[in-house]
Amino acid sequence: CVTGTFDAFNRRVNYLRISVTDRCNLRCTYCSDGEINHLHHDDILRYEEIERVTKAAAALGVRHVRLSGGEPLVRPYLWNLIELLTPIPGIEDISLTTNGTLLKEQATKLRSAGLKRINVSLDSLRPGRFERITGGDKLGDVLEGIQEAHRVGLSPVKINMVVIPGVNDDEVEDFALMAKDEGWHVRFIEHMPFGGIGSTPSMTVAEIKEKIESMVSDLWPCCLSGAGPASYFSFGEGQGTIGFIRPVSHRFCGQCNRLRLTADGKLRPCLLNDLEIDIKSALRNGAGISDLKDLLKQAIIAKPERHHLETAGIGGRQMRQIGG
Ligand code: GTP
Ligand code: 5AD
Ligand code: SF4
Repeated sequence: CVTGTFDAFNRRVNYLRISVTDRCNLRCTYCSDGEINHLHHDDILRYEEIERVTKAAAALGVRHVRLSGGEPLVRPYLWNLIELLTPIPGIEDISLTTNGTLLKEQATKLRSAGLKRINVSLDSLRPGRFERITGGDKLGDVLEGIQEAHRVGLSPVKINMVVIPGVNDDEVEDFALMAKDEGWHVRFIEHMPFGGIGSTPSMTVAEIKEKIESMVSDLWPCCLSGAGPASYFSFGEGQGTIGFIRPVSHRFCGQCNRLRLTADGKLRPCLLNDLEIDIKSALRNGAGISDLKDLLKQAIIAKPERHHLETAGIGGRQMRQIGG
């Protein structure tokens, strides 16, 4: 049955994205710019606090939880958090978005703890370029991590490729071939610029799709499990799929189903709007589930109708601090 809490624009919110840390072991150029000041350990929500927020969210109809970062796998013993979230009544789906560098060693523990599926950020298949984009010589680790995730039964494993004009847009064909030949689920994401759309000319999904159809294969609409804004296509044969996420050329705010919890305990109603509601103080002042539910409802009601990327950038926080 469909659950959730309606916001002021009649959208059903049933998906909570939880950023577990603002730290990352990579430095992707599009994700953080300028100086990096990390949160102090005491300012970050403890696992037991995240569990309480998730219980309250589940009581309001949240069914999907996605863990993100920074890089969530740099937070020690992340599987302990997943073990706390898995038994919460109502939570049907726990997923993770990761850069994949630490996946090989953690995949088995994450899966055993109850993690169902995983999205891996991967923006280049060329070692030198991968290093230039991410600041780390880790392409081999990520590819091994993806294989290991498949092996332990995390399914589906989706690959997120942010298409940045002049940086990696010449790899669209290579990624599409990996999807077709190796059965990967590759999602091309339009780059959301920090400084507003005017600051970087973005390659649109229509252009990417045209490129794949002319160079690799025709595409047919299909479905893939998930709770996000992607639309999916198959090649008409094989397991692989292509997904498109179009935050820039096709705003999907009208279907937005999500609320975010930042690592430092703020409820963030929209990725691209700096409005935040503090929930950490309530957690640390002994708030019960019904107080937490009230704060979650406040955040849901405060969800803005849409983002304004065309006139404003992502605002005060960096992607690294929100978890995408
Ligand atoms: P599933 O469909 O459940 O697999 O998750 P997802 O696609 O929502 O998760 P993921 O973390 O892989 O996000 C993929 C891309 O979508 C990232 O570039 C995110 O920044 C972007 N994205 C996710 N949620 C939103 C949102 O609410 N607004 C906008 N503008 N972009 C989003
Ligand atoms: N534009 C689009 N996607 C982004 N991500 C991070 N920064 C941006 C951006 N500026 C993606 C990452 C990751 C997901 C959580 O968000 O590649 O896969
Ligand atoms: Fe790290 Fe992910 Fe940001 Fe890259 S996109 S710097 S992997 S948090």
